[in-house]
Parts: sequence; structure tokens; C-alpha cells
Amino acid sequence: MSKYHFDPDTKELFICDKKINFSNSGYKLNSEIGHGANGIVLKGEDSKLNRTVAIKFWLPYKEKTKPDPDKFYNEIRKIAQLDSDKIVKIYFANVIEESYFYAVYEFVQGESLKKWLENEQDFISRCFVLEKIYNEMKEVHEKGIYHGDLHEENILITSGDNVKIIDFGTSFFARTKDDSHQRETELLLNTGLSILKHEYTQYNLLEISILKVSPPECIPPAMLMLSKVIENFKKIDKLNEELDENSDDYWEDYDKHSIIFSLSDLTCESPFFNLERIIQLLKNSSLDDKYIDSFVSYTLSDSLARICEVETYNTVYKKANRENIDLLKLTYTMLRIQYLRKFNTEAKMSTFKD
Ligand SMILES: Nc1ncnc2c1ncn2[C@@H]1O[C@H](COP(=O)(O)OP(=O)(O)O)[C@@H](O)[C@H]1O
Ligand SMILES: [Mg+2]
Repeated sequence: MSKYHFDPDTKELFICDKKINFSNSGYKLNSEIGHGANGIVLKGEDSKLNRTVAIKFWLPYKEKTKPDPDKFYNEIRKIAQLDSDKIVKIYFANVIEESYFYAVYEFVQGESLKKWLENEQDFISRCFVLEKIYNEMKEVHEKGIYHGDLHEENILITSGDNVKIIDFGTSFFARTKDDSHQRETELLLNTGLSILKHEYTQYNLLEISILKVSPPECIPPAMLMLSKVIENFKKIDKLNEELDENSDDYWEDYDKHSIIFSLSDLTCESPFFNLERIIQLLKNSSLDDKYIDSFVSYTLSDSLARICEVETYNTVYKKANRENIDLLKLTYTMLRIQYLRKFNTEAKMSTFKD
């Protein structure tokens, strides 16, 4: 017998064989939408407002401890503060017989990010979706909140490729000790990399091993910058193709410099890029060496400007070129260390963990 059972004919819900008395709730239960490790989600209706809703019921017991309603409400209140059209709205939450917790959400018509990605979405559409997810997650982190279980099935894509993030913070019932910052980082990272799977493998631009052990707040900017850096490399690829076709080189010096400048800027904005790899890709491209020298000196000057006085970088950065990137690599590492220092994660974050 499954932990949950919803009878679509009688509209009765059983959790661990116990019939849930939901008749006085003000909501009608209609059909099952999904269920997982944490609970069952039903499509229902607000009887007074005649509005379709999604109602989630949690399992009553986890590891033989009685669930704590105060903890449930604490977590639910955090989610209720998140007022965004990218995050599923929560309308109501309650506890039945001190054991059965449920919450009523806005009903979202859409498909999971996982399904959406299976339909071979083009790069631009995937970047739009990625941008929506990670701009939102940046804001959520600024409020001191983590998602707790972000993955391809907790993101729904609605019409017009809009995004709704669901299952926010509620994994606290299923998970206990392993719910850590490390896990949050890895989930955030894996979601982005699955959206950019093809390009991520093709260009291999990130210092993944460093990102994996960085605070979760580092991942949204890293993903946003990654998609833009890839965009620039796609422009460079186009330039290579046009040269192969022996067409006139219509790319102006100005266009090439602006690509290079943008690459430097993005690389320094989130300092988790593999600079050697970027320089290697530039060297393999049809760009003249002078542009590669420019990338090295722009990136060095930008890194220096972000970590020290203006006078220092003015004298140093002119020495950098493609044959001498040690100084750049050192400065970039220092920039990353300074960047990471911003996150006093232990003190700052209120998390969904126990
Ligand atoms: N508000 C909603 N609107 C529409 N479908 C939803 C909604 N919330 C959840 N679902 C569906 O139910 C599934 C399970 O819900 P979720 O909250 O992720 O539960 P679990 O904790 O079991 O993963 C989701 O993957 C999604 O398909
Ligand atoms: Mg889920």
C-alpha cells in the first residue's frame, strides 16, 4: 500500500491508511497532480472563490518523530514572504489533527523544466529561462533564504517560457542532517549546467571544482555570467565560420574589441572562470593575437581595479600579454578570494535545515 492514496471517484484522501477529514476545509479535492518523497499534491478548488488551487499534504511522520507545527509554520511563513511572479504563491496553510500538514498554492499550468529541456530548446530560449531562474534565486538569497531542493522538477515552465519555482523550502520535512550549504550549492549548480549542458561540455569554461565548494550565493551570478560568456564565444565561432567561407571580413575592429571587452568584464564579475581555457579558445579562433593580448590586459586591469588602488593597476597591467599570463592568473585568484570573503555564510543565512 502506498503512503498516499487519493480516490478520484469518492474524492477521499488516505495518508498512511488514515482517511483525512478535509470536508470542512473550504477546499474541494479533485485529482492527483503528483507525489514524491515529501508528500502528495492534489488539484483542488477553493469552494468560495471558485478558484483552482494545488494542495500539498506532507507525510505525518519522519524518522519516528512527531512533526512540529511551530516548525512547519516558521518555514511556511518564510515562503509566504517571497512575493514574486517567478515563485509559486502560497494562499493558506494548516495542520489537521496536529499531524497532517497541508498548504494551498496557486495552481500552475505548465511542464517541468526537465520535460521542457527534453524538447531540444534552442540556446536563446534556454538562456532566457536560465536568466529568470537565477535572477530570482539571487533575490531570494539576498533575503537570506535558500530553496532547499532546487532541481529540474521543482521548476515549472509555463506558456511564453515563463518560470515558476515550486517546492520552496518544504523539503525540510524529508531531509534532516544532509541539508547543507554544500547541497544547496550543488543543486543550484547542477540545475544551471543541465540547462546549458551542450555548451557547458563544448566550451568547458568554469572552474567547477572550486564552484562546487563555494557558498550557494556564488552560483546564480556564476550561471548568469556563464551564459553570457558562452554567447560571446558563439559570436566568435560565427566569425570563424565566416572566415572559413572566404567571405569578406565584415566584422569591424570595434565589434571584435567589444566582444573581448565584454568577455573580460563578465569573467571578472563572477571570478570562477578557467582563464587558461578562455585564452586557449581565443588562440584557437580566427582572432588576431592583438585581441588576445587585449583580453589579457583588460582582464588583468579589471581584476586589479576590483582588488586594489587605481594607481597600482595603471602601472602593472600594461606588462600583460598572451605570452605572460601568470600575473593575470595570480590577480584573478586574489579577486576570487576577495569575492568569496563577502559571504560570511554561517552568520548570515537563515536556512531551511533543522
Ligand atoms: N502549485 C502547483 N501547480 C501545479 N502543479 C504542481 C504545483 N505544486 C506541485 N505541483 C506538481 O506536483 C509535483 C510534486 O510537487 P512538489 O511540491 O515538488 O512535491 P515533492 O516535495 O513531493 O517533490 C511537482 O513536481 C509538480 O508536477
Ligand atoms: Mg518536488
